[in-house]
Amino acid sequence: MTPEEFRRHGHRLVDMIADYRAEVAQRPVRPPVAPGDVRARLPAAPPSQPEDFEQVHRDLREWVLPALTHWQHPAFFGYFPANAELSSVLGDYVSTGLGVMGLSWQSSPALTEIEEVMTDWMRQMVGLSSAWSGVIQDTASTSTLVALLCARERASDFALARGGLQGGSAPLVVYHSVHAHSSVEKAALLAGFGRDNLRPIPVDGAHALRPEALAAALAEDRRTGRVPCAVVATTGTTATTAVDPIRAVAAVARREGMWLHVDSAMAGSAMILPEKRTLWEGIEEADSVVLNPHKWLGAVFDCSLYYVRDPRHLVRVMSTNPSYLQSGVDAQVKNYRDWGIPLGRRFRALKLWFLLREQGVEGLQARLRRDLANAQWLLEQVRAAEGTGWRVLAPVPLQTLCVRHEPAGLAGEALDRHTLAWVERINASGRAYLTAAQLEGRWMVRVSIGGLQTERSHVAALWLMMQEEAQGAVQT
Ligand SMILES: Cc1ncc(COP(=O)(O)O)c(C=O)c1O
Repeated sequence: MTPEEFRRHGHRLVDMIADYRAEVAQRPVRPPVAPGDVRARLPAAPPSQPEDFEQVHRDLREWVLPALTHWQHPAFFGYFPANAELSSVLGDYVSTGLGVMGLSWQSSPALTEIEEVMTDWMRQMVGLSSAWSGVIQDTASTSTLVALLCARERASDFALARGGLQGGSAPLVVYHSVHAHSSVEKAALLAGFGRDNLRPIPVDGAHALRPEALAAALAEDRRTGRVPCAVVATTGTTATTAVDPIRAVAAVARREGMWLHVDSAMAGSAMILPEKRTLWEGIEEADSVVLNPHKWLGAVFDCSLYYVRDPRHLVRVMSTNPSYLQSGVDAQVKNYRDWGIPLGRRFRALKLWFLLREQGVEGLQARLRRDLANAQWLLEQVRAAEGTGWRVLAPVPLQTLCVRHEPAGLAGEALDRHTLAWVERINASGRAYLTAAQLEGRWMVRVSIGGLQTERSHVAALWLMMQEEAQGAVQT
């Protein structure tokens, strides 16, 4: 494609995206698509001859967009907000269009230095002290894997330079709450700890990790000759946005010489609000923390911030130094390839830079406060409807509500069928989208508020829909 052709098609695609965003509320949130429908549209083999690019525009419009679940829809209340502010989309577009690679500082100086400054701006925004240094990773899953690799190497006194995990005599153990995200368990398994050495710790009534249960598990492991290596605490768990008590967990970690990693993937964005920082009180005691601006904050996926207190340790674990990557300025610069797993790095800092400049900290704070207020409003409505069987199942420190409609006489599997049926009726209608999840073995519904375009009116419309679909089903 020539630059002139790119200009022509690119303008049209920007128009297409702008139209899509302006009109996304008219679309069904979840598309009426069956498995295989989209694949059936595509030829089984690649085109042997160039096609007219017009066909690509047409296909996008006619059958790709209608087959999407619309995460930017104002009635999207599923999973978590994956906001993609359009300013951030432009940053990502520029990053892709420039086509540069951050293998080292020298391979793209602006890529590295803007990332240094963006991670520092974000550090200030979420109230972390200047003792922290940050890097942009693709996802929280990667950040947590990096954290556990660093923990493993600290506990084993750099076993990777000798026999690795196989050279150690005592097993290293990783602790996390039973509500930790699946990426924590996955990271621990990939880092070689082995399932026998993972300790899911029970939670309290608010679904937060119980420090005394952690201490008891540690004592038992010490007694049987195992070595506590790392604990992962979560600020804002996936199911209920529960908040593990970081200060108490940190005290245990320090006493035992364990690495403390804090997974704040979703809730980290809320830390730009000073009034929410009590949720991660004690954070300065941690060794590493991850937060995802690609969730609620509005940076388009993928943009995960990983902060550490000891960057030299991180670099020691992650660094490679082949001759072809060396440069004369290595002693004066950051080479971010040594701060994570991949060698090749995209210019991700651009999407954060564009977002922060276009919105300003206060613009972002105002939006998040709007969402928190909407969640509290819905909480009040659901509580007021307790008489008709509605129940709130967990505290609401952020923007997610966990609810269930429990009609008199329904329990156990029958209640599960009722829950799954009403949520599916809403999702199938295309009028809103919610996620069902299990809590303590029973299905419930998560209402995750916080889309860019989601206003009080959308939350009110959802609440009406929930009542119609859940209570209506019981009355008829
Ligand atoms: C608490 C928590 N940690 C980790 C993740 C995984 O994030 P990512 O998709 O960036 O790996 C999620 C995603 O929902 C999450 O809620």
